[in-house]
Amino acid sequence: MKHLIDPTDLSKAETDEIVALGEDIIRNREKYYDRCAHRKLATLFYEPSTRTRLSFTSAMMELGGNVLGFSDARNSSVSKGETVQDTVRVVGCFADVIAMRHYIEGAPLAAAQVSPVPIINAGDGSHSHPTQTLTDLLTIKRELGHIDGITIGFCGDLRFGRTVHSLIKALARYNDIKVILIAPDELRLPDYIKQDVCDRVGISYREVHTIEEVMPELDVLYMTRVQKERFLDEDEFDRVKDAFVLDAAKMALAKPKMAVLHPLPRVNEILPEVDADPRAAYFRQVENGKFVRMALISKLLEWKDDPAHDWAPGPSSEVAGRCPNPKCICNCENVEKRIRVSEDGTARCAYCDAKISLSL
Ligand code: NCD
Repeated sequence: MKHLIDPTDLSKAETDEIVALGEDIIRNREKYYDRCAHRKLATLFYEPSTRTRLSFTSAMMELGGNVLGFSDARNSSVSKGETVQDTVRVVGCFADVIAMRHYIEGAPLAAAQVSPVPIINAGDGSHSHPTQTLTDLLTIKRELGHIDGITIGFCGDLRFGRTVHSLIKALARYNDIKVILIAPDELRLPDYIKQDVCDRVGISYREVHTIEEVMPELDVLYMTRVQKERFLDEDEFDRVKDAFVLDAAKMALAKPKMAVLHPLPRVNEILPEVDADPRAAYFRQVENGKFVRMALISKLLEWKDDPAHDWAPGPSSEVAGRCPNPKCICNCENVEKRIRVSEDGTARCAYCDAKISLSL
């Protein structure tokens, strides 16, 4: 059984298969209307969401299936103290596939370890968001015709923006990708992505402080919102919130064929005057999200009993160490400790990727 917790849970071939199916669904919508008839998707959303939850719901409805679940954990047994793992053991008796969004990092990974049905991570804390990644890949493919060879600028909140983390991980498997990181110092990309993804795979990246200086080079500009809800310090938030705003003057510096993406919601980082520009792809991206989720749900159900599409939670290491992240599931619930040690000796928590100092 295949779960989608991290973008790399899908091989490159599986990712391309889902993106290609998304394109076919767009071309032949009626062909897929009964694909998931009598199947049920449970949406377990422990954190606010508009488009991701509705996108999943709409995707399952368009496949002829049904949807159940909750969008506010206060209405579920969680308020009685039920663990994530117990909740999915129970919901797995009612649904064929589960999409989970959680404010606790690693919660979907903990869920996948015990779930009788495929788990889809619909966003965990500031960690990962693999279905937004599939949406982004399909959008880049449709806007530019290819993913290999692109120069992509990520702008805004690269520290807390989980969509950025996941997309960079996925892009690392394509050829000749150049990444430009456009962010204030407070919101720079976490080191684990720079070291474990970019450096290891050899993705070239550079860090700059303005959109203008790199705009002419970009094939894709990936804008993000400053994630106020993840800031601990309001003053720090106020200092950075207006930086890095995209307007028509900056668009004038861009290539005639480029695409502006944004996972949405936007706050003020893209002025409304940009919306009419044909290169503004963010509302088309929302629609692609529904089609790619249709493709994902049908593939996960199709692959459920196929050993060729299996999934493993990663090593449960014998080394001792403590995850320093208070927002990680391993510090919130009683789950098996999982530490990943890479070739260079760096140890990371498998749930949230925080760096761990090993105790001897
Ligand atoms: C993003 C998210 O939830 O991580 N939105 C989304 O899924 N479409 C980005 C954000 O909240 O800023």
